[in-house]
Amino acid sequence: MDVENVNCKIRVSQCADMEIIPIERPLKVTQEIGGLDKLVEELHKVFTNDYVNIQDVQKLMAGYKSDPKDWRKYAKFDRFRYTRNLVDAGNGAFNIMILCWGPGHASAIHDHADSHCFMKLLSGSLEEVRYDWPSTVEPEVRKVLNRHRATEEHLDTKMAALDVSCQNDSCQNFGGKVDRCQCGSQCEDYSSDQMEEIGRTRLEVNDVCYINDALGLHRMENPSHVDSAVSLHLYCPPFDSCRVFDARTGKPSEVKVTFWSVNGKKVKRVIEATDVADSQQ
Ligand code: SIN
Repeated sequence: MDVENVNCKIRVSQCADMEIIPIERPLKVTQEIGGLDKLVEELHKVFTNDYVNIQDVQKLMAGYKSDPKDWRKYAKFDRFRYTRNLVDAGNGAFNIMILCWGPGHASAIHDHADSHCFMKLLSGSLEEVRYDWPSTVEPEVRKVLNRHRATEEHLDTKMAALDVSCQNDSCQNFGGKVDRCQCGSQCEDYSSDQMEEIGRTRLEVNDVCYINDALGLHRMENPSHVDSAVSLHLYCPPFDSCRVFDARTGKPSEVKVTFWSVNGKKVKRVIEATDVADSQQ
């Protein structure tokens, strides 16, 4: 099974038989979706199923042609940083939000908390920069994929012994970016682990992209000094914290993700992403 046929109703690390093949572009639009409300309605229908194909979600998102009159009420900007504005809590299975990026605004390098992340550009343009995981951090999905591959390849007993012997106090099996620690745990040497850029994509209006932790980390940036940008994000399952990474050292820190507005109304205090999903179940 390749990544485009993976079930995004379950966490990425549970998709053990996934092969990491980038999704083909441009996506073929097979169904025109008349408006943002209609898109949300279609996504609700799709997410009632136990199996949700990644490419089907992408196609739905691609089928909606951005029209500012649909999303203007959610587009709330801040002068200093990008904002996250909840559009729909998706019965807890997924959530949809609009992110508003002022000129030069950018996100930190981050993971996706074992969730699937779909993104569509609604206005302006954004640059997505992808990074490999720092060699010091092994995400859950890669542990699972490595275990799965190891089983398939019938690794010899020597390798199995190495796995058992590493107790993570010295991580003696850790050997740089290619040979990750065989114990699968986090090695804590952040001294000089500059993060490695593995790709850069410019997204224009109506482009759709997808990422999960198996594909790497990313950050988004509005490269314009004058124009703002607006993007639509779908996360499944929703998450209220993720890890951000220091570009020079690869050191991770856990951060809460919050909403600037919910259903078009600015929130008085920032609220955590899953508070809303919980209250709507
Ligand atoms: C991004 O993908 O850069 C946006 C992250 C977020 O959901 O805040």
